[in-house]
Amino acid sequence: MKKKLLSIIVATAMVASLLVGCGSKAADTAAPAADAATEDAAVEEAAPAADGSVQVGIVLPTKDEPRWLQDQAQFEKILGDAGFTNQVLFSQGSSATEKTNVETLISKGIQVLIICAQDGAAAAAAVEAAKDAGVTVIAYDRLITGTDAVDYYVTFDSFAVGAAQGQYLVDNAPEGSGIPLYLYAGAATDNNAFIFFEGAWSVLQPKIADGTFVIANSSEAVALQDKAELTRDELGTIIGQITTDWDFNVAKSKAEAHLTAVGADMKGDVLVLAPNDGTARSIADVFATDKDVTSYVVTGQDSEKASVQYVIDGKQSMTVFKDTRTLAADSVAMAVSILNGETPATDATYNNEVKDVPSKQTDIVVVTKDNVKAALIDSGYYDASEFTGLE
Ligand code: BGC
Repeated sequence: MKKKLLSIIVATAMVASLLVGCGSKAADTAAPAADAATEDAAVEEAAPAADGSVQVGIVLPTKDEPRWLQDQAQFEKILGDAGFTNQVLFSQGSSATEKTNVETLISKGIQVLIICAQDGAAAAAAVEAAKDAGVTVIAYDRLITGTDAVDYYVTFDSFAVGAAQGQYLVDNAPEGSGIPLYLYAGAATDNNAFIFFEGAWSVLQPKIADGTFVIANSSEAVALQDKAELTRDELGTIIGQITTDWDFNVAKSKAEAHLTAVGADMKGDVLVLAPNDGTARSIADVFATDKDVTSYVVTGQDSEKASVQYVIDGKQSMTVFKDTRTLAADSVAMAVSILNGETPATDATYNNEVKDVPSKQTDIVVVTKDNVKAALIDSGYYDASEFTGLE
């Protein structure tokens, strides 16, 4: 009985915290947890662990990108506020560390694993170990491929991210035709890199095919430029050539090499598809220092603080806001449903080569100088004092 009371308080706190932090969407998804508080058996399972075990384990790819620290902060806040024991571990770029992290969390008694894979294919072994231990697996942001050991997937609309980046370049391109276009992609081990590029290609390809844009730095993309839709293998061939590995230094050295390799006809006013904020800042810095590049339009994503400042300063053209509050809250709401013995609400499916994974998908917002304040400050994501030159 005591346990039941505690869990009702927890469920209520959970809903309240989701309501406060995340707007109506998260509130909707939190509803099942509240409903479940009326069912005795389920309620007992949802109570916070009294024995010091960890209920929800979270594994994130790296501490070295601000993006994942944003997610960590949200998880710790939402789960902590709700009284659920949890632990966040980082894989630091290593699938072996990731697997050890998962094993550590299994040994601490987790019931739900929320994992953003370092490498979508390599992570299969780690989540299979979790499944074998009776843990429910939620793939977070990046899909884990080639295994049936993924129960759910919580993600942003990654195709929309890439399409928004491509559309921004189209809408902000200089007049005329033959405009140089530099293409960069994420890590080939990340399923998202494929979806982002596919989204961008869907918008850019017609402009490349009709000669408005000219690809400056990828012979593989040039070879496929008349194809509106690319197969996974074709995407892989292009990404293999223009990957940044999600690494700022790789992005920087590739951009330098590309600008060294091209002639004056590929400079002047240029367009740059950069896959995320970290790589966008590195690439932008390189393009900014080339005296033959008159102007550049460069994309990004994540709305990392440093890139928001770059957008305000006109050094990065746009970023995509992926509200980690919503994604973390959606995953937590899902975890709570699972702990309550319920089937979580989903609204999409993603095929991971073995199964259609039931998924919860979140919308994205394009951020430019014009709406930084509305999107990121007024929404309470950042404080205005964290930036200079904000109007
Ligand atoms: C995420 C991006 C992130 C990138 C590099 C992707 O899977 O969706 O938000 O910038 O990984 O960490």
